Amino acid sequence: MSAMKGWAFALVVIFSVLLSWSIPRGESERAFLSFSSHEPLVRVVYLASADEGQDFFMEMTDSVATNIGYDFYHDTCPEAETIVRSMMAQIYSQHKNVSAQLLRLFFHDCFIQGCDASVLLDHSNGNKNHSIEKQAVPNKTLKGFDKIDQIKEVLENVCPAVVSCADILALATRDGVVLAGGPFYPLVTGRRDSARSYYDEAMAEIPKPDDNITQTLHLFSLRGFTDRETVSLLGGHNIGKIGCEFIQSRLHNFRGTGKPDPTVSPSFFNEMRVFCEDNGNKKSSQGSPMAAPTAGMSEKPAGRGMPYFQQLSSSVSSGAGFDTHYYQSLLRGRGLLFADQQLMANERTARLVRAYASDD
Ligand SMILES: *[C@@H]1O[C@H](CO)[C@@H](O)[C@H](O)[C@H]1NC(C)=O
Ligand SMILES: *[C@@H]1O[C@H](CO)[C@@H](O)[C@H](O)[C@H]1NC(C)=O
Ligand SMILES: *[C@@H]1O[C@H](CO)[C@@H](O)[C@H](O)[C@H]1NC(C)=O
Ligand SMILES: *[C@@H]1O[C@H](CO)[C@@H](O)[C@H](O)[C@H]1NC(C)=O
Repeated sequence: MSAMKGWAFALVVIFSVLLSWSIPRGESERAFLSFSSHEPLVRVVYLASADEGQDFFMEMTDSVATNIGYDFYHDTCPEAETIVRSMMAQIYSQHKNVSAQLLRLFFHDCFIQGCDASVLLDHSNGNKNHSIEKQAVPNKTLKGFDKIDQIKEVLENVCPAVVSCADILALATRDGVVLAGGPFYPLVTGRRDSARSYYDEAMAEIPKPDDNITQTLHLFSLRGFTDRETVSLLGGHNIGKIGCEFIQSRLHNFRGTGKPDPTVSPSFFNEMRVFCEDNGNKKSSQGSPMAAPTAGMSEKPAGRGMPYFQQLSSSVSSGAGFDTHYYQSLLRGRGLLFADQQLMANERTARLVRAYASDD
């Protein structure tokens, strides 16, 4: 099987799951069934959507989702998807990093109360202490808000107040994945935007970069995800960069111990040190793919980031963004985040990593 095909597998799983978060139960089953003829893995997702965790999630989102379907804006804003696609092509030609930024932003949006654009809100709207998700998920590491605003502005001129921000984010992320060399996947639209931001949920329930495998699997299972889907979703780390602040905490103060992460091999330790410490005062903040390691993280952005594609030794070639190199690097003990490398610490997830790594 080619690397690309393997990635299509993983991504169809990822996005089937993501879109299921904001769709009423009956609709999502139809969406999954429409994929299942060609993708064995998707049947796994389909089954997962029938389990307790997912049911619970569907109940929570039913009230905001109505009439979701393919080409939802066919009558109300027929050019919507074309506009998003051409805007993304334009943005991507100048900012190749937009794909990773949006993939991460979309994940953060969907993980908390469904894909409802609540991560984009600037107002708390009655939320207890007026805190918003943007602040909770250390907003300095989430990027791409300006790109969504840019697309929204163009759409507002063409069809005012029709296309939801949640759909813009979902479509723009998909188009960004395609532009970065990933597969196309069909998307249903018709998501409604949330009027509420969920600060507390975002603080407590977004997986953290230094979570161990037990914690990571637990947080994903609360959203109805199986181990396989969790390993697939972490595969989003195939593109983008991780901020050196997260690497530095593994080098010096792992989980608040004041000591290095004992699981990092000496050679990889040195490599990370060279990459992130040889010039610590350069400025240009880089995102990590997950939340900050601690709730009260207050350090300045370290200013540098380690790209995921550099985590293999230079003797191993890694091609386009969307291939198997993320999983291969885990087999070599070179996961950039503790949470990444922890996928090898559990026999079930390690088996899945080996399967994805050899999928080319
Ligand atoms: C994204 O790419 C653009 C252009 O290549 C660059 O100017 C910008 O600093 C990058 N942003 C980040 C966060 O890396
Ligand atoms: C908001 O409330 C939560 C608890 O309900 C608390 O943990 C958090 O620190 C508060 N945020 C601010 C900015 O006060
Ligand atoms: C990030 O949060 C800070 C304070 O918490 C706020 O001043 C700033 O406007 C926020 N930035 C974005 C893009 O939300
Ligand atoms: C994972 O972390 C939690 C919380 O710190 C801890 O209770 C648990 O024992 C850890 N599990 C493993 C396998 O290390």
